Amino acid sequence: MKKTILSLFFCFLPCLTYATENLDPVRVEALTNHVCRNLSTLHGWCSQEKALNFIDLVLEVKPDVCVDIGSFGGSSVLPVASALKFLDHGIVVAIDPWDKIEALKHFDPYEDHRHMDWWSKVDFFGIYNSFINMISNHELGKYVKVLRMTSERAAPEVGAIDILYIDGNHSDAVALLDATLYLPKVRSGGYIWVNDSTWTCMQPAIEFLQESCDHVRLIDNGNCILFKKR
Ligand SMILES: C[S@@+](CC[C@H](N)C(=O)[O-])C[C@H]1O[C@@H](n2cnc3c(N)ncnc32)[C@H](O)[C@@H]1O
Repeated sequence: MKKTILSLFFCFLPCLTYATENLDPVRVEALTNHVCRNLSTLHGWCSQEKALNFIDLVLEVKPDVCVDIGSFGGSSVLPVASALKFLDHGIVVAIDPWDKIEALKHFDPYEDHRHMDWWSKVDFFGIYNSFINMISNHELGKYVKVLRMTSERAAPEVGAIDILYIDGNHSDAVALLDATLYLPKVRSGGYIWVNDSTWTCMQPAIEFLQESCDHVRLIDNGNCILFKKR
């Protein structure tokens, strides 16, 4: 019920109009085509809609620092880093331990057994290598800083953030920890995407963020929220 009301509320919000008018439309089209063409070659869950929204927001904000928590095969890093390369400005900090023990350790073996089954079969060595290859194949090294560690360990190494993406460990405790550790780093007026926002495990994090952020938009069939920090 709560989910339905939220979805209806967001459906009627007008779309953001990003300031891409001053950018060369041919270059912008080449950027979006390049990212959309290559998304399907990567491991991960970034839809074309999400990739285009990520690109739009980077081109609008012209961020110094973006943070991607839970980078996996890099499908959410590709659009952000490619847009930073387009601007030749800023970095995205890609945070992920790429480690099975970390991926599993916060789940409840009874309630979360499906998650645990799935993550226990992931070849994190191969996924990490595919992530590193993606960065070099697309010549994005200048725009990506890789922190191969948990979001909790990475937090002290991260300063002020313009755009944050929360898509790391999907246990409710770690999702909430990500929100509490990283929200203070997001500058006032900065943005926070929360993926899988309809999932029960993400609700404590979302409720926490709602106390100091405004909803901006909902994408991916209501499963990814954009907040703006007040
Ligand atoms: C749902 S996947 C991320 C998908 C990716 N953002 C995409 O769009 O394709 C979740 C990722 O979180 C990572 N992860 C697990 N525990 C973590 C932690 N404590 N801190 C940061 N990342 C973590 C996992 O290794 C996994 O790669």
